[in-house]
Amino acid sequence: MNREAIFLLIRGGHIIDPSQGIDQVGDLLVAEGKIVQVRDTAIQSPLFSPTPHPDEIKTQHLDARGLVVCPGFVDLHCHLREPGFEDKETIATGTKAAAIGGFTTVCCMANTKPPLDTPAAVDWIKQKASRDSSVAVLPIGCITKERKGEELTDMTGLAEAGVVAFSDDGDPVANSQLMRHAMEYSRDLGLPVIDHCEDKTLSDIGIINEGQMSAKCGLQGIPAAAEEIMVARDLILAKLTKARLHIAHASTKGSVELIRRAKEKGISVTAEVTPHHLTLTEERIIGKDSNEPFDTNAKVNPPLRTKEDVQALIKGLKDGVIDAIATDHAPHTLGDKNCRLELAAFGISGFETALGCLMALVQEGKIDLTMLLSKLTCEPAKVIGRSGELGTLKTGAPANITILDPDQEWIVDSRNFASKGKNTPYDGYKFKGKVMATIAQGKLVYTDDSLVITRSEVTKQSHG
Ligand code: DOR
Repeated sequence: MNREAIFLLIRGGHIIDPSQGIDQVGDLLVAEGKIVQVRDTAIQSPLFSPTPHPDEIKTQHLDARGLVVCPGFVDLHCHLREPGFEDKETIATGTKAAAIGGFTTVCCMANTKPPLDTPAAVDWIKQKASRDSSVAVLPIGCITKERKGEELTDMTGLAEAGVVAFSDDGDPVANSQLMRHAMEYSRDLGLPVIDHCEDKTLSDIGIINEGQMSAKCGLQGIPAAAEEIMVARDLILAKLTKARLHIAHASTKGSVELIRRAKEKGISVTAEVTPHHLTLTEERIIGKDSNEPFDTNAKVNPPLRTKEDVQALIKGLKDGVIDAIATDHAPHTLGDKNCRLELAAFGISGFETALGCLMALVQEGKIDLTMLLSKLTCEPAKVIGRSGELGTLKTGAPANITILDPDQEWIVDSRNFASKGKNTPYDGYKFKGKVMATIAQGKLVYTDDSLVITRSEVTKQSHG
């Protein structure tokens, strides 16, 4: 039988792979879904020959001159809404949006209907994703049954079914004894607990950050303390249990300081921050439309905070206190957002704007590109124990690759989103920096219209 191999040669790009300290202009060769090699453009080494030798090699050439080639982004936190909320998003639409955003692996949160609280629910996600998904989907399992905070799930069964972490997401476990037990199980299973840190008795019916803005607008506030109390509790429990704790969407200066001190003391904690908490402040709640005082698309939980908080988050990211950037992609229907601010759902549709808004931090000199890419690739991979496999261009790793143009300017138009969730506070914003192509497990899952796959050639192999 004729053996055929498909190669993809990405030529002349600026290859940045923070996992290996690679920063060079060169070619990247992919064969049969795996990274084969990163090579210097100057070295005209022959194409690698896989074993067993194919009779024919088909090579696609992608001209990446002037573009950055890096590992595919890994998102630790997104909401794909399926099953149960297919009007907001599906695995098909959500992962298409992820691909457009440069994400090749996404961890989906457990707040679906039914929630991901049984091995059967996790299996269902995996099967549906294997049929519908553009990128790899890694499920996060619930800590408690129905996310009610009353009784632990079968955490061992969930781990065997393949969850990468445990979380009750927006309904964090309030009972500290139950959380302690959850951490003990997760430690023994070798998986992290991801906590959305919120003391609901403090956040109550809050809508935006508690402070000057909430007072000025007459809106109910969510104090920083609602987050920080839970961060502190979880850090103490992580110390007690020696479990791996991951803090979801840290949003306050106080949280950064608590995590910093915990890390200094050797507590096993990692943390993520969202693109919106790094680039927007509480003032963004004011609408651009004079008929509408508030923009419901800027209503998110945790809320957008102050300039001081944003500065502390960026500093934390640079210092390594915050390990990763995660989107918290939270798509909602138009109906969920086209209403009074008090009634609007919390959440931002984040996949398709993540890189664009984050690149502003690079252009403003607040963070360098390599560090930004590390927070989107190898660092999140580490959090879920997948270093060397995800977020890397290492030889033999699955070919998950993102190609971006750091200079391309574009204007956000949510009507063009692949996500069903058009709920973005960035609509109409001009960004510089755009994802041009995304390759997930060797397959081109997204290419910008302007990118040309230059040619496809067939090489006959002789094995004499
Ligand atoms: O704004 C948010 N939306 N924060 C969360 O924690 C949950 C999310 C959602 O599911 O919509």
